[in-house]
Amino acid sequence: MCGIVGYTGKKKAAPILLDGLEKLEYRGYDSAGIAVRDGDKDATVVKAKGRLKVLSEKTDAGKAIKGTCGIGHTRWATHGEPSENNAHPHITDDFNVVGVHNGIIENYQQLREKMIRKGYKFYSDTDTEVAIKTIDYYYKKYTHDPIEALAKTMVRVRGSYALAVMFKDHPGKIFVARKDSPMIVGVTKDESFVASDVPAILKYTRNVYYIDDLEMACLESGTATFYNLDGDVVEKTPVEIDWDASSAEKEGFEHFMMKEINEQPRAVSDTLGSFVSSEDDKYKIDFTSAGFTDEEIKAFTQIYFVACGSAYHVGMAAQYVIEDLAGLPVRCELASEFRYRNMPIDKNTLVVIISQSGETADSLAALRKCKEIGIKTLAIVNVVGSSIAREADHALYTLAGPEISVATTKAYSAQLALSYVLAIEFASVRGTIDEEKKQALLTELVTIPEKIKKTLEDKERIQWFASKLAAQKDIFFIGRGIDYAICMEGSLKMKEISYIHSEAYAAGELKHGTISLIEEGTFVIGSLTQSELYEKTLSNLVETKTRGSYLMALTSFGNYSIEDQADFVVYVPKIDDHFAASLAIIPLQLMGYYVSCARGLDVDKPRNLAKSVTVE
Ligand code: G6P
Repeated sequence: MCGIVGYTGKKKAAPILLDGLEKLEYRGYDSAGIAVRDGDKDATVVKAKGRLKVLSEKTDAGKAIKGTCGIGHTRWATHGEPSENNAHPHITDDFNVVGVHNGIIENYQQLREKMIRKGYKFYSDTDTEVAIKTIDYYYKKYTHDPIEALAKTMVRVRGSYALAVMFKDHPGKIFVARKDSPMIVGVTKDESFVASDVPAILKYTRNVYYIDDLEMACLESGTATFYNLDGDVVEKTPVEIDWDASSAEKEGFEHFMMKEINEQPRAVSDTLGSFVSSEDDKYKIDFTSAGFTDEEIKAFTQIYFVACGSAYHVGMAAQYVIEDLAGLPVRCELASEFRYRNMPIDKNTLVVIISQSGETADSLAALRKCKEIGIKTLAIVNVVGSSIAREADHALYTLAGPEISVATTKAYSAQLALSYVLAIEFASVRGTIDEEKKQALLTELVTIPEKIKKTLEDKERIQWFASKLAAQKDIFFIGRGIDYAICMEGSLKMKEISYIHSEAYAAGELKHGTISLIEEGTFVIGSLTQSELYEKTLSNLVETKTRGSYLMALTSFGNYSIEDQADFVVYVPKIDDHFAASLAIIPLQLMGYYVSCARGLDVDKPRNLAKSVTVE
């Protein structure tokens, strides 16, 4: 959450900072600010409440601010309401230290009181201001060495942070520290960049250094030096990011979300392509990048999917597929619950952490908990080099490319595709499917990208239907089995970007309470892609219809009898039932998108949300 960017070089810093912040605005967008230094003059700090464009207007797109070294921040408020006062950067009264921060300082009250006793004044409600003043305090107390001051602060601070700080006595330098909040550094011939996420600096360099937990860095134009907590220099090799800069641009689409919805055939086909290939009309899976031996795969007694948000919904769908194909019991846990739960876990369990960003605080904490108790972990991650990818015992990458819209679409689809590969591979190694079945499944699997493309062709009808939904107060999604998992994700898409209350229910649960909410005109969307459950779910839909619901059904081509019951039907291409979520989710993503547009909302940056949830 929140976005940080820093630049030191020969060019004017402010326009570069604003450009970088624009790429990061999906991480937080309630206020923003920059601090820029012109040679050894004091820092100029400009902040603004609201979207980045307010800050940009205030600074004439950065052109009004002189200086070639600076830091910037776009905020998602944790401590203190969104306001100019609480916006970063925060600075000491004598301009000695100015800094920006992502994360949460848990013991900030304690530190604040201490700093007040030491004579510091506070002007905001933020934990960040406490961190900046603590750094200043240690800088002045000891040897006036920025790295030492940062290190001393780091051992006293509890919580998570990515900090970018400038010191008055060190013009042209940016100092950085990190714990549990992502931070990367990019260096070119005569410029250096720091950012909380890759898209901010992709335009300038693809080679990035990852700062590890409890490490620091000092950036000067064209160089970066890394330090551990003892102040020793740490050698690092850069990692090449193979995303291209244009993938973080809208490329003619009105919103990133629509662009990313349309990128799904490619995201899925690239992801599948990195594991599945064909030779002489036979498909094979190359699972070596996961690093499991067959013996290990055979020894697992159960799988836990642990994730947050849409990634959790991927686990929900995948659990049905794995249980059915590989005969392994699967549990799905919300990372925020799992991390604090004291439960007995069999030592032969595999915990699969799914995460687009690889930085979600709860997912990372869940992963660390597993490592602590000696449970094997596999990460399914989109961002190369992210914390979850690096810390898991095994890691597999989705190839969705950078995802900017807060509401995930292509990363979800790529994760889902990868989970099917996992299911088929585990089933095959464990001998629960034979070669013939494996070939049949893979033959179907590789058709997903083309079928997603076909599903996308139905856009206009969904757009029309969305205009009817736009005035609704409540929408209910119901389904069974994989359809229930589809409904969970469809409902989340709807509520997060349209702000319409929506709920997903296992169709059989309706009778246990929720059906009392159905009245004349209530919108109910039923997902019916699972042939064995079709009749059952249909009965539940009819039960709502007899109580006055307006019914939309989502099913496969061929199930035309549904027209007798439903008021509106969306068909998706036929596919093996196991993979139905990959197609059925597309109309639901489109529906959320179009309803949000029809209501005139900010599709890519829905209120109160941020893409990468790096605080608890
Ligand atoms: C946020 C995003 C969701 C995402 C969830 C988990 O809530 O808006 O789209 O599913 O975080 O993020 P992760 O990066 O771990 O997949």
